[in-house]
Amino acid sequence: MPVATRDIAGRTHAGRWSGRYDGLAIAFHWLTALLVVSLFAFAQIWGFLPRGPARHLLQGLHVSLGCLLVAIVIARILWRVFGSVRLSHPGMVGKLAQAGHGVLYLLLLAMIVTGPLKRWAAGQALNVFWLFSIPSPLPAEPVLRAPVGFIHFWAAWAVIVIAGLHAATALFHHYALKDGVLRRMIPLR
Ligand code: HEM
Ligand code: HEM
Repeated sequence: MPVATRDIAGRTHAGRWSGRYDGLAIAFHWLTALLVVSLFAFAQIWGFLPRGPARHLLQGLHVSLGCLLVAIVIARILWRVFGSVRLSHPGMVGKLAQAGHGVLYLLLLAMIVTGPLKRWAAGQALNVFWLFSIPSPLPAEPVLRAPVGFIHFWAAWAVIVIAGLHAATALFHHYALKDGVLRRMIPLR
C-alpha cells in the first residue's frame, strides 16, 4: 500500500503554514474549479435562451466538459488517496477545513454521478465534443429522471455556494492573515 500522507503541515515559528501541494494536486484543483464554474455558468445562461441551436450548443458543451470533469475528479481522488502530498492544519480550524473539503468532494461525486445519469435515465448517450458517444450501460429508466434531476440541480447550487465560501476563506487567509495557505495551492516557486 503506497504511503498516503507524505507531508502534514504545521505552523512554523514565523506563524506561516509550511508545506505545499504537489504539481498534480494543484493542476487537478484549478482544473476542477474552472470546470465547475463553467458548467454552472453554461446552465444558467441556457436557462435564459429559447429552444434552438445556441441553447443546444451550451448543453452539448456542458455534457462534454462534464465528461472531462468526471475523469478529473476520479483521477484527483485516486491521486489524493494513493500519491499526493496531503496538508492539514492542527486543531479545531483544521478539522473544520477538512470537513469543508470533504463536503466539496462529496458534492463533486454527486455531480459526476447524477450528470451522466440525467442522460442515461432517458436512454440517451453522452456525446463528447461531437467526437464520440458514451452509450448508457443501463437500460433506460425514465422514473429516475426526476429524482436525479432534483439532486443534480440542488447539488450544483450547494457546490457553488460552498466553493464560494471556501474561496473567500482562502482569500481571507491570504490578505488578512497573510499565513501562506493560498500559496500552498499556487504553482509558484
Ligand atoms: C459540478 C459540476 C456541474 C454543475 C455545477 C452542473 C450544473 C448543472 C445545472 C445547474 C443544470 C441545469 C439544471 C438541471 O437540469 O438539473 C445542469 C443540467 C445538466 N447537466 Fe450538469 N452540472 C455539473 C456536472 C455535470 C456532469 C459531470 C454531467 C455529465 C457528464 C452533467 C450533465 C448535465 C445534463 C445532461 C443536464 C441537462 C441538460 C439538458 O437539459 O439537456 N452535468 N447541470
Ligand atoms: C469550484 C471551485 C473549487 C472547488 C470545488 C475547490 C475544492 C477544493 C478541495 C476539495 C480542496 C482540498 C484539497 C485536498 O486537500 O485534497 C481545496 C483546497 C484548497 N483550495 Fe479550493 N476549490 C475551489 C476553488 C478555489 C478557489 C477559487 C480558491 C482561491 C481563491 C481555492 C483555494 C484553495 C486552497 C488555498 C486550498 C488549500 C487549503 C489548505 O491547504 O487547507 N479553491 N479546494
